[in-house]
Amino acid sequence: MDSGIDRKGSIIGIGGGVVCDITGFAASIYLRGVSFGFLPSTLLAMCDAAIGGKNGVNFQSAKNVIGVINQPQFIGYHYPFLDTLPQEEYTNGMAEVIKHAFLDGLKFIDYLKENYVLIKSRDMLVLEKMITWSHQVKSKIVEKDEMEQGERKKLNLGHTLGHAIEVNSNLSHGQSVSIGMHMAAKIAHQKKLCAIETCRIIEELCKLFDLPLDSGISSKPIMDSIVYDKKRKSGEIDFVIPIAPGKVEILAIPLEELEDLIK
Ligand SMILES: NC(=O)c1ccc[n+]([C@@H]2O[C@H](COP(=O)([O-])OP(=O)(O)OC[C@H]3O[C@@H](n4cnc5c(N)ncnc54)[C@H](O)[C@@H]3O)[C@@H](O)[C@H]2O)c1
Repeated sequence: MDSGIDRKGSIIGIGGGVVCDITGFAASIYLRGVSFGFLPSTLLAMCDAAIGGKNGVNFQSAKNVIGVINQPQFIGYHYPFLDTLPQEEYTNGMAEVIKHAFLDGLKFIDYLKENYVLIKSRDMLVLEKMITWSHQVKSKIVEKDEMEQGERKKLNLGHTLGHAIEVNSNLSHGQSVSIGMHMAAKIAHQKKLCAIETCRIIEELCKLFDLPLDSGISSKPIMDSIVYDKKRKSGEIDFVIPIAPGKVEILAIPLEELEDLIK
């Protein structure tokens, strides 16, 4: 309002996922919606948060419970932003890249393994390829199912447990997602839905990029948080099960069974 933006105005969010989310949300409700675009400045926002049209904010202890699905007019990429990104934030972004690589398949996974030294040293050419690849994986999924009726739920791999771990610890989003993916793979293996090799692939990638695999948090606080999770249906939760590279399944797991599996 201070800037005098009218209905023909446009708001551009330049920043990390928080800035992109708030920009998209504010633009979507201001004057019943003005256009908006993003210039993401963190690895996580470039690979994930700026893409897909979800613009949400947290409320009380629940993540992203208030928001809209509305696509930006553009997403601009300026890779040198990453030069100043603190290491922890960079590592956070890698958790989402690993998730996209697993959803995409072995080729992307091998690219990360073969280039991990250059990725960690933020080599611009390698980063450009990795970010574009990651962006395409998410865009393709969102194009098929913008409103999250099915396919898009795959993007929640590692996030159901990850969010619960994040609110119960001092761990960052990326660290929590890494642990969430690892737990999801172990749960899948325990349910005889994936080979031990799948767990090892996720373990290896997370370790290569200095992401943790365990939180030490007990099942009780994790389950308490999951009960607030927006993906919860009555008595059960849609859980993304990693089967093999390029293949995941959405299973409705009863909350009691999930608690046993976490234990
Ligand atoms: N909408 C979605 O689909 C979606 C998807 C994933 C995550 N998210 C949301 O994104 C948020 C996390 O995003 P994030 O990891 O980008 O965190 P963030 O936006 O909090 O940014 C992390 C930190 O880095 C700083 N920063 C940003 N760019 C910088 C740069 N180029 N150099 C130096 N410092 C810089 C920020 O000021 C901040 O302190 C969470 O709120 C999460 O819920 C949204």
